[in-house]
Amino acid sequence: MKKEQIVKCQFSEWYPRFKKHTIKSIVLQIPPEVIDYLHDDGTLVLPIRNDCPSRHEDETEEWSDEESSDVPTLSPPKFPEFESRVEEAIAELGGRVFPKLNWSSPKDAQWIALNSSLCCHSLHDVLLLLKSSDLIAHDLTRPFLLCSDDSPDPEIHYQLTLRKWCELIPGAEFRCFVRERRLIAISQRDHTQCYRHVHALRAEIRTSIHQFFIGLVQPRFPDDDYVFDVYRDSQGRIWLVDFNPFGDVTDTLLFSWEELTDTARLPSSDGNGEADEQDLPVFRCVTEESYLQPSVQLSYRLPRDFVDLSTGQDACKLIDFLNLSSGRQQTESSDEES
Ligand SMILES: Nc1ncnc2c1ncn2[C@@H]1O[C@H](COP(=O)(O)OP(=O)(O)OP(=O)(O)O)[C@@H](O)[C@H]1O
Ligand SMILES: [Mg+2]
Repeated sequence: MKKEQIVKCQFSEWYPRFKKHTIKSIVLQIPPEVIDYLHDDGTLVLPIRNDCPSRHEDETEEWSDEESSDVPTLSPPKFPEFESRVEEAIAELGGRVFPKLNWSSPKDAQWIALNSSLCCHSLHDVLLLLKSSDLIAHDLTRPFLLCSDDSPDPEIHYQLTLRKWCELIPGAEFRCFVRERRLIAISQRDHTQCYRHVHALRAEIRTSIHQFFIGLVQPRFPDDDYVFDVYRDSQGRIWLVDFNPFGDVTDTLLFSWEELTDTARLPSSDGNGEADEQDLPVFRCVTEESYLQPSVQLSYRLPRDFVDLSTGQDACKLIDFLNLSSGRQQTESSDEES
């Protein structure tokens, strides 16, 4: 993967060329003070909203008697101008948006939102997700981490992308792999479920995505190797969702990088021998209920024990935990005595 490939997959690079064929979106430059705020990995303090009277100052007064003067006060930041731009964009997109930075969405932080969703109504909602996401931290700090070239990192202007919220059906999303300008593979995007209708319609889905690629994507995307995501709506029409680099930062879903980088390893669609030119793109979907996998988003959430302890739902775990910590305290005090 080359740095130039990563640059070409930024949302603002491809969106103008494919505007008519993707979800309506607005890209906003992120001001330096908001970038600093996103970079700061201390305590998460959300900014004061424009429409809120500043309660913080009153609270500081209330707290500033002698007894509580040691209590650290965390000042919430204020981004009035940026907030106004974001709120305007959200209103223009119908009041509900899906947020992204230059490449990634904060899908690993979905669990932290009050609605457990990436659907945002305000800058507040957006910042809570962005600040809580490791994928966003990767975009901000190490976007070229896995690149093989030694050239200096290209300059990146960080942008907030707000996309009109759409109720997308996971079974209608597909990921498409392009190598040397040929569409070589298509995978069901949600590989944790078996969607029987996808298997039944596989020939039709494969053909319509291939035509979409030949007619629209291939002539307009300025690279040889890349990955793109599409959505097939209820009328069978194909829409573009995203572009991703052809490399380790992108999940290969039902394929492996070995297969995708050496087409000789791709078995033909009927499973008899190697795929030849007419077998490409090879289409894969989950065909058996037995393949069902846990959602990939689960791995980002809190450890189960932590949730059980903090909510007091599992009394046995709580007793184990208390025994464990009292045991540790005893060991520490006997160490001190000795
Ligand atoms: N506008 C939208 N409204 C609602 N949901 C959306 C929207 N755009 C994307 N999604 C959902 O969020 C998922 C992730 O979106 P997207 O591919 O843009 O994020 P990403 O961070 O680039 O993901 P990846 O790392 O897999 O490439 C999509 O598969 C889709 O289900
Ligand atoms: Mg993506």
